[in-house]
Amino acid sequence: MTHIRSILAGVGGYLPERVLTNDELARTLETSDAWITERTGIRQRHIAGPKETAAFMGTEAARTALADAGAAPAEVDAIILATSTPDQAFPATALRVQAALGVPGGFGFDLSAACAGFIYALSVADGLIRAGQVRGVLVIGSEVYSRILNWQDRGTCVLFGDGAGAVFLRAGEGSGTDRGILSTHLHAQGTQGDILYVDGAVGRPDRSGHLVMNGREVFRHAVTRLAEAVDEALAANGLTRGDVDWLVPHQANLRIIDAMGRKLGLPAERIVVTVDRHANTSAASVPLALAEAWHDGRIRRGDLVLLEALGGGLTWGSALVRM
Ligand code: COA
Repeated sequence: MTHIRSILAGVGGYLPERVLTNDELARTLETSDAWITERTGIRQRHIAGPKETAAFMGTEAARTALADAGAAPAEVDAIILATSTPDQAFPATALRVQAALGVPGGFGFDLSAACAGFIYALSVADGLIRAGQVRGVLVIGSEVYSRILNWQDRGTCVLFGDGAGAVFLRAGEGSGTDRGILSTHLHAQGTQGDILYVDGAVGRPDRSGHLVMNGREVFRHAVTRLAEAVDEALAANGLTRGDVDWLVPHQANLRIIDAMGRKLGLPAERIVVTVDRHANTSAASVPLALAEAWHDGRIRRGDLVLLEALGGGLTWGSALVRM
């Protein structure tokens, strides 16, 4: 029997032009290219210019995703934009994107789940499509972490970058492990909220508004939780690790990515890695990595792709997709 399925019809990404290397950072900060590369795998990151806001970059990524799908703006029934760095408290960044793209109707909203934001947004969009409420959804992750970093804190500022990624989901039909989103799983543990957070917001202007992190604790949780998420996604679909063609992980740290690759028994060439060039772009990291491997022809139609991410909250989750 076939059911309504969310098909990944198009993928897109956007990166700011300005590149900031580790060596440039080491000129003003007590750090080194060797330290950053050894601990994280990061060599450089893209940094947004004044006009490159979450809405601007999200619009560009969405434009590419729509073109890739051959979809007109009128096909977009909903826009879900994951971000921790919105342009304004309201209107939602998603609606700035709606206006910029010339999407004539439907609805849209922003979603806050830090680095797991794109997985959360994909899951919500999939639910709306399966319920028959919408047929075309833009799911976007867009972040300008350069504006919430404490550039004096070498323990955090070297780890993040800016960018946006997007997918266009279209309702289709499928069964079993046919094309489309096979499953999503979301998790959160609010009791761990103090190991990674931004100290401030519009509702607390008395705070700094800077990202704060206990790196060791986050690392420990990431390895454990993401390994559980991998098992959960495979078990839910009656699949084994050998069935997965590609891992598209959240790009926070190469050591965490390698641990997930070993868990899946995947060779390095089957894991999409962008953290060396993009650093951690939070909610944008998974769709940006997907966009890169999709457009350069590594990931093809029919491939089984596992997406996973963990972020502040704590939030984490997975999505298993047949492209
Ligand atoms: N350059 C040089 N030295 C640095 C540094 C930098 N950029 N950042 C920290 N250090 C120093 C620390 O001050 C500390 O020095 P000390 O021993 O004299 O106090 C030393 O390096 C070790 O710091 P520590 O934080 O314990 O290092 P670590 O091995 O845990 O690596 C991270 C730090 C951040 C790379 C690592 O914890 C990590 O990747 N965590 C996960 C982060 C993550 O993925 N976050 C996003 C999730 S969405």
